[in-house]
Amino acid sequence: MQDKVWIFDTTLRDGEQALKASLTEEDKIQLAHTISRLNVDVMEVGFPVSSPADFRAVQRIANEVKGPAICGLARAMPKDIEACGLALKGAQQPRIHTFIATSPLHLQHKLRKSLDDVIEMAERSIKQALQYTDDVEFSCEDAGRTPFDDLCKVVDRAIRAGATTINIPDTVGYTTPDEYAAIIHHLRNNVANIDKARLSVHCHNDLGLAVANSIAAVQAGARQIECTINGIGERAGNCSLEEVAMIMKMRQDHLKVHTGIRSEEIYRASRQVATICNMPVQPNKAIVGENAFAHSSGIHQDGVLKAQNTYEIMAPETVGVPNNQLNMTSRSGRHVIEHRLSELGYQAADYDMDQLYTSFLELADQKGTVYDYDLEAMIHFNKLAEQD
Ligand code: KIV
Ligand code: ZN
Repeated sequence: MQDKVWIFDTTLRDGEQALKASLTEEDKIQLAHTISRLNVDVMEVGFPVSSPADFRAVQRIANEVKGPAICGLARAMPKDIEACGLALKGAQQPRIHTFIATSPLHLQHKLRKSLDDVIEMAERSIKQALQYTDDVEFSCEDAGRTPFDDLCKVVDRAIRAGATTINIPDTVGYTTPDEYAAIIHHLRNNVANIDKARLSVHCHNDLGLAVANSIAAVQAGARQIECTINGIGERAGNCSLEEVAMIMKMRQDHLKVHTGIRSEEIYRASRQVATICNMPVQPNKAIVGENAFAHSSGIHQDGVLKAQNTYEIMAPETVGVPNNQLNMTSRSGRHVIEHRLSELGYQAADYDMDQLYTSFLELADQKGTVYDYDLEAMIHFNKLAEQD
């Protein structure tokens, strides 16, 4: 029996935090339903104390979106925990995620507190959070730059206080895979009660190592990965959900772990995040980029026609990328557009066909071929125009 690695999606919290314009409540609800269709285990959907709008969005998602545990973020402060507990009241499985920094750099310059002060704040917050839910996650912010002994001390006390998940963020994306794996090994070997909590990892991508670090941590025994769709997030972003999910699916025999992700939902989710968040995906991005399944060289094209796996390690359909693409031009009828949109996961109720077809023809006349992202942008902008 292989171990399951939980997928904790934070697109709507750490991902959203980095956008130039915040998402509307409707955008968040739409994305939350899409993320839930991926079958993630936990979905972090906001930071309720940060603004009334964020509180309302978390509250609506908690009430409306079923399936994954719904999580809110809270600093280790009473008013944050209270706001989080209240916003999550309607959730079937609420999770409160509280955090405080533990690295000497953050203690000295940001918090101006001692490690013992911070441990006390963490303990109090965890206990307060337990009054709202039995699912409490605690994060040591900047764990990647926290000395091992300090980290062990904080983690031990957080578990004693009742935290059920312990998260080890590489907040600034500084560690290398071997260093990050060593932190996880060290915690597992030196914190007596470590098995009472699920060990989680949260990697930023400043050096392009977020995915590699997360996988190294899983190999060292972590059993939850925090990630975002398309890897959106602070600065260079977070660990990319589609990449870690597909690594664990395609290399399951080697890694001996699995996730519950429905991989066929990945492409739709990626497109929706790119469009709604106005964050285009680079063409050569693994798994979801426009070129991820495109073969250009003659030798490769010849090979793929003879046997697909000569140059393709996974079929595009595995991640929900439709195989046979029909070019959409001004000669395409409505049924082609409808067909394409249903392949992308849209239903008739998601758009007004008359309005969409008019915009489609105008654009097709201007640029020749209309691409998936054009169609999705048209749906999105027509919807925004209706709301105004
Ligand atoms: O990067 C980070 O440290 C975070 C924490 C709040 C978990 O996002
Ligand atoms: Zn983060």
